[in-house]
Amino acid sequence: MNLRPQTTSEVKRRSARADRVSTLEISLIRQISESARPTAMPLGVGEPTWDLPEPGRRVLNEWSGRAPYGAGTGLPELRKAVADYYRAGIDEAFITQGSVGALFSLLQAYVGPGDKVLLPDPGFVTYRNIVLFSQAEPVYCPLDETNRFRLDAARLVSMLDDGRIKAVIVNHPSNPTGAGCSAADLKMIAEECRQRGILLISDEVYRDLYFGERPPCLREISDYGIVVSSVSKAWGAPGLRVGWAVGDPELLDPARTIHSYATTSPSFIAQKAALALIEATEEIHRKARVELAARWDALRIAKREHLGEDPLPPDGTFYHFMKLPQEALADPIGFAVKLRDEADVVAIPGLVFGERGREYLRVSFAAKPEQIAEGIRRMARYWRA
Ligand SMILES: Cc1ncc(COP(=O)(O)O)c(C=O)c1O
Repeated sequence: MNLRPQTTSEVKRRSARADRVSTLEISLIRQISESARPTAMPLGVGEPTWDLPEPGRRVLNEWSGRAPYGAGTGLPELRKAVADYYRAGIDEAFITQGSVGALFSLLQAYVGPGDKVLLPDPGFVTYRNIVLFSQAEPVYCPLDETNRFRLDAARLVSMLDDGRIKAVIVNHPSNPTGAGCSAADLKMIAEECRQRGILLISDEVYRDLYFGERPPCLREISDYGIVVSSVSKAWGAPGLRVGWAVGDPELLDPARTIHSYATTSPSFIAQKAALALIEATEEIHRKARVELAARWDALRIAKREHLGEDPLPPDGTFYHFMKLPQEALADPIGFAVKLRDEADVVAIPGLVFGERGREYLRVSFAAKPEQIAEGIRRMARYWRA
């Protein structure tokens, strides 16, 4: 072969991006958040703003000795702790790099060109892009605002018979709406997916950040489907990047292979910290809900004071899906940019999460209570006008 030095432009031309990459969208959430001024009130954040709980901090502070790779499927003691949490067997628990690691490897393992994946609209933006990356087609189950965006099993099931749907993702309580679903609906979805051999993934990453009744867990209702979750939300540790998938070991197997080639293994030290967190689950979740309630109160009081509204809490999550003012509807993205640049508040247009979110703004109340109060105060004039 006659090798000769390449110019940079030649190299760039020859290494044009793969087709499957060209369909991916750069997250508008990041674009809106990242260009904000340091003084902006951060009502766009989708992560806890309280400290890493003490058991996790202790592991990180006291770490000494080696930092090995560890087993590809996760530390056995962490798998056991996760399995116990779901009353599952250890073989049913597979540790991943955040729940996104689980979602990514499951979808790469099961769907491809010609397949469709049913997703919620509005729904977590990453689902759509992981499906696009796998070269399958995302299709959307519309969630109904008159039903407060709660999951509607009858509607979802009516969409399953298209013949090409290979997987369904449900997310309850939901990002971006905070809406949950009933145990009966979840059971019906599981049964209908089982009958058709459709892979069901239940994203329950916000399950323990709830108001009122604890949301149902797929594992408690059915032995079908795979639950994904992580320590990122209710355990207050998004930066550990530790999540999991729990389900039939044979179903998890191909996803394990993909995850191990993509990551080798989740961080050994992060898994040790995650284990300490999971061992203290009850206390950590109780405190997380105290933090959550304080933030919800700040939002509720500020909305009453500045907008004369008395909002209802979501079923769970730290998201408030707020109706946009009439004038914002023509250009919801432009409106969010205006809020950022004029009012110095970051919040995410609902349209980013799907067409059904067009008339809404996702206000995260994961921020500190004083930031929430100040953010609503700054935004209020756009609603009053
Ligand atoms: C619905 C939903 N699922 C999954 C994730 C990903 O979380 P992680 O990978 O940190 O577990 C998020 C993060 O915001 C989310 O909102």
